[in-house]
Amino acid sequence: MKILLAGGAGFIGSHTAVELLEAGHDVVVVDNYCNSSPRSLERVREITGKDMAVYEADVRDKEAVKNIFDREAVDCVIHFAGLKAVGESVEKPVEYYRNNIDTTLTLLECMKEAGVKRIVFSSSATVYGEENESPYVETMPRGSCSNPYGWTKAMMEQILTDTAHADPDMSVILLRYFNPIGAHESGKIGEDPQGIPNNLMPFVSQTAVGRRDKLTIFGGDYDTPDGTCLRDYIHVMDLANGHLKAVEYAADHKGVEIFNLGTGKPYSVLDIVNTFEKANGVPVPYVIGARRAGDLPSVYADASKAERILGWKTKRDLRDMCVDSWNWQKNNPNGFRDQDQS
Ligand code: NAD
Ligand code: UFG
Repeated sequence: MKILLAGGAGFIGSHTAVELLEAGHDVVVVDNYCNSSPRSLERVREITGKDMAVYEADVRDKEAVKNIFDREAVDCVIHFAGLKAVGESVEKPVEYYRNNIDTTLTLLECMKEAGVKRIVFSSSATVYGEENESPYVETMPRGSCSNPYGWTKAMMEQILTDTAHADPDMSVILLRYFNPIGAHESGKIGEDPQGIPNNLMPFVSQTAVGRRDKLTIFGGDYDTPDGTCLRDYIHVMDLANGHLKAVEYAADHKGVEIFNLGTGKPYSVLDIVNTFEKANGVPVPYVIGARRAGDLPSVYADASKAERILGWKTKRDLRDMCVDSWNWQKNNPNGFRDQDQS
């Protein structure tokens, strides 16, 4: 199949490109690099020894996206293109709604004109909201989100669902990711946030490599076994494999299907710090600070539906996630920027 990855140069998109190319699929990437580097795609070529078509464009630019659909016989779209920083979305809600909703609408319009009927969408566990309790199951109704980023995901799920209802030949697969961390085993690609990381693992690995003095753990007084929040961390290569399974499932599917992509196993912030230090033999200095607004004490998946229907199961454990995150960080202390400047 020929698969268009919108936002394919980013963290999850680049790892998914490796997985799809290695499974023998053709890959087309469109990205405007607003939160990524074209270097990630060069590394994907190095890892796989395979080529892919790459277009630099804003996915909101209908002319540009239409031209890509005219040139490439796309079978399926995976829509990763979005802004994703929760805190920033509170400060810049209009930018988040404009970017995330518009990319989705433009892709759907161009897909309709080109007769492309399959789309896999990067959604998030955040759509379960605080009304539901972990483990989250796909049959639960969406809850209310604590920030504009989360609302964009909920709205895009609704837009995609309505679109599938209007066209019985469409297949829409909503993938609700839990907490993706880790990196490709080669250490050539990984998560490369710009500025101060918002997410836990890049902060941990940047602290270990000396770019940050210390990690602040947001809250040590939650009602959890060690007082820190519980999350469902998933290795990004397991997540990438979930996309491969979803694309292959979509080939013979019509309608809307939702899948949680998580391991189903909750770990605390302290579990992450301790496992990272032990597995890699490096210290991660930390202090326990105040709670972060909007954080839920416990977020983890019931991952049984993806196993039952897609035949997908995670293979990598927390130690693998910590080892691979560190391998990427220590080989690329400044992410892709070292190469960008050379
Ligand atoms: P990322 O920022 O690394 O990747 C997103 C990519 O989309 C980037 O390469 C960026 O340049 C591109 N992009 C954004 N807006 C664009 C536009 N208008 N036109 C063209 N390209 C555009 O993020 P990621 O971690 O790889 O996440 C991928 C998707 O998964 C996002 O939609 C994100 O919201 C979602 N998601 C991520 C997480 C996570 O923890 N990483 C969790 C749940 C959901
Ligand atoms: N944390 C810290 N210190 C930090 C960063 C994070 O203690 O410097 C803690 C958080 O309080 C939380 C855990 O580490 O308990 C994980 O935090 P992340 O920011 O890495 O991830 P979140 O669970 O907050 O958010 C992630 C994605 C969102 C998605 C959400 C859905 O980043 O895109 O999961 O649950 F919406």
